[in-house]
Amino acid sequence: MKFFLDTANLDEIRQANEWGIVDGVTTNPTLIAHEKGVDYCQRLKEICQIVPGPVSAEVVGETKEQMLKEADRFLGIARNIAVKLPATEQGIRALKVLAGRGAMVNITLCFQAMQALVVARLGATFVSPFVGRLDDIEDPGMNLIRSIRTIYDNYGFKTQILAASIRSTMHLIQAAEIGADVATVPYKVFAGMLKHPLTDIGLRQFMDDWHKAQQAMSQLPPNVV
Ligand code: E4P
Repeated sequence: MKFFLDTANLDEIRQANEWGIVDGVTTNPTLIAHEKGVDYCQRLKEICQIVPGPVSAEVVGETKEQMLKEADRFLGIARNIAVKLPATEQGIRALKVLAGRGAMVNITLCFQAMQALVVARLGATFVSPFVGRLDDIEDPGMNLIRSIRTIYDNYGFKTQILAASIRSTMHLIQAAEIGADVATVPYKVFAGMLKHPLTDIGLRQFMDDWHKAQQAMSQLPPNVV
């Protein structure tokens, strides 16, 4: 499973990128709003310079025409831009045009499998089922990932399942078990991916034992060493 970072914050992107496993970045209007006063296109350009993989740029237009206009602006920023369109009728009309031109498209706000089937038929590069937001309304989000995986495998669709609205490491493990192609991860969850209390306790124990052994060695008479 590939990892995208779900943020528009440059420090987070730079830090996570040092791990060597960041395959792309997703942004949305809310994430940009967190970066007070930042110009969206300028920020996308900066992100694309750090991460060579797909960087999702989300449109805010309501009609197909507005979406396509924004898409043109985004696609002029860098070669690795993926245009993020909503899973709506206007969104899929814009998808048809952009996919026809060979542009990368990420269909966002996917909450049911039919949306995923339709956008795969139209050649979307990614579909983003929102796991956490479904969990929030007591509808297990992983069931949607599983259902889309089954449908895509049944017909050999190439659209990549991009598990989004990820809230925990457990979400990542479950998405990987089901076979999501990508998960987009908030920095806080990303930074916690290697954390386990037993790893920390075990490491401390090994270090303490090592130091004790070194100390014991240094106390032996010289002819024994
Ligand atoms: C990513 O593409 C989505 O916009 C993002 O994962 C949504 O996450 P949220 O539900 O935590 O806002």
